[in-house]
Amino acid sequence: MVGDSLSAAAITKGLETRFVGQRVLYYPSLASTMEVARHEAQQGAAEGTVIIADEQTAGRGRLKRAWLSPRGNIALSVILHPSLSCLPSLIMLASLAVVHSIEAVTGLKSQVKWPNDVLINGKKVCGILIESDVQGNRVNYTIIGIGIDVNLRLADFPEIQPIATSLSHELGREVSRLNVIRCLLVEVERLYLALSTGGSIYEEWRDSLVTLGKRVRVKTGETIYEGTAESVARDGSLLLRTLHGSLTRIVAGDVTLRD
Ligand code: BTN
Repeated sequence: MVGDSLSAAAITKGLETRFVGQRVLYYPSLASTMEVARHEAQQGAAEGTVIIADEQTAGRGRLKRAWLSPRGNIALSVILHPSLSCLPSLIMLASLAVVHSIEAVTGLKSQVKWPNDVLINGKKVCGILIESDVQGNRVNYTIIGIGIDVNLRLADFPEIQPIATSLSHELGREVSRLNVIRCLLVEVERLYLALSTGGSIYEEWRDSLVTLGKRVRVKTGETIYEGTAESVARDGSLLLRTLHGSLTRIVAGDVTLRD
């Protein structure tokens, strides 16, 4: 078997959080943790509930892409009940929590590609999908889905080899998923509590972005922009200096680094 074995008890035992990861639903195989998390959230699941699967058979990525999710890696969703004002910062929270936990467990330095891909040596090691149910000014729930390539053997997936990496690939040895998961849950809660009590994580997120100052191509819907990623606003949007010299604010999109 690739990777250490997981269970709800192993994840929660002695976990130093107040609520994130105090309730864990573990599945050996699921279509997608996002669907189970949505169902749980609609049934009133406690804040911090985590849905985790050893393998996903229909993992979902941003922009309706598929997310490859074989055994040995991390695929989990966390249910939160944030205030409306915190919503834009959750992208920052999730990517920073991943960066911190990867470094704490493995020593590897990673960076964020706007809006929330995590890269090591320029290759994607983690994808994040955030879905919220909002009614008026009220957030019923938010689900943060995180997929980390922990022990992915890239030789088995030549189609993603040019753009993806895994922690084990970078280190040349297997990595404990349990250590990464537990550290990640602690970090999610720490940053979430900081945000909820008025703290800012914007500066750290901005400084961790590999995108800024780079020539980029951004695809948003059917529109493609080219220019230099000049800055990010506090709401997480990207400020792009286009080739014509104007500044365009992009709220969501897919970035390709051109340099
Ligand atoms: C992306 O980079 O496009 C986002 C990928 C998000 C993948 C995670 S794995 C856990 C959760 N369940 C899913 O089906 N997707 C997210």
